[in-house]
Amino acid sequence: VGVGGFARLLIDWQRLHGRSGLPWQATRDPYRVWLSEVMLQQTQVSTVLDYFPRFLSRFPTVHALAEGSSDEVMALWSGLGYYSRARNLHRCAQIVVSEHGGEFPNSALALQTLPGIGVSTAAAIAAFCFGECISILDGNVKRVLTRVMAYEGDVSLAASQKELWHLAQSMLPHAPSIDDMGAYTQGLMDLGATLCMRSKPACDRCPMQPICHGHASGEPTRFPIKSRR
Ligand code: ADE
Repeated sequence: VGVGGFARLLIDWQRLHGRSGLPWQATRDPYRVWLSEVMLQQTQVSTVLDYFPRFLSRFPTVHALAEGSSDEVMALWSGLGYYSRARNLHRCAQIVVSEHGGEFPNSALALQTLPGIGVSTAAAIAAFCFGECISILDGNVKRVLTRVMAYEGDVSLAASQKELWHLAQSMLPHAPSIDDMGAYTQGLMDLGATLCMRSKPACDRCPMQPICHGHASGEPTRFPIKSRR
């Protein structure tokens, strides 16, 4: 199986075994997807399941959030931690309303310019909501990719980060539907979180095992290689 097999294996695995039925997976509304991605940046799914519906019932639209008071936004965020996320969330909602007519921009490039939306979060929103053919690249995804490719570069180096970004783009499905991009993106997250863990990866259950050079090397946990951390 060549590099082209990666996307197919990932999409098929995600549809059968990946996480499903989460409230933010039932929508392509950028407001909801954005809110869930910001909450999920540093908070586990089980906690977000509690906060996400409560936040949405108070602020059902980006307009409602933009018009809310900082105190109320912070109160609803209380307990999630990393409070700069809540301040950026509120500012972002205000910019979407004042500068974009209340509609989130429909490309990762434009989404990245908004407060609190980094490169990977922008890619996730664009892939889930618009089917944009772009890869997320967080720590979990870097681990998956460096293992599958047995990537020998030092991921502490800026040059390697750039190479990994190109590698991630090269693994994307060809001419994906919006559903394919959703399953692919969620699959990258799910594989890194549930099978391809930092230590003790579950290679025996992994859909990538037949094409994984890290597994073939007998030492998948040697990747990613980091000189600094
Ligand atoms: N972490 C970041 N985004 C996520 C998502 N959509 N599902 C599960 N975990 C995530």
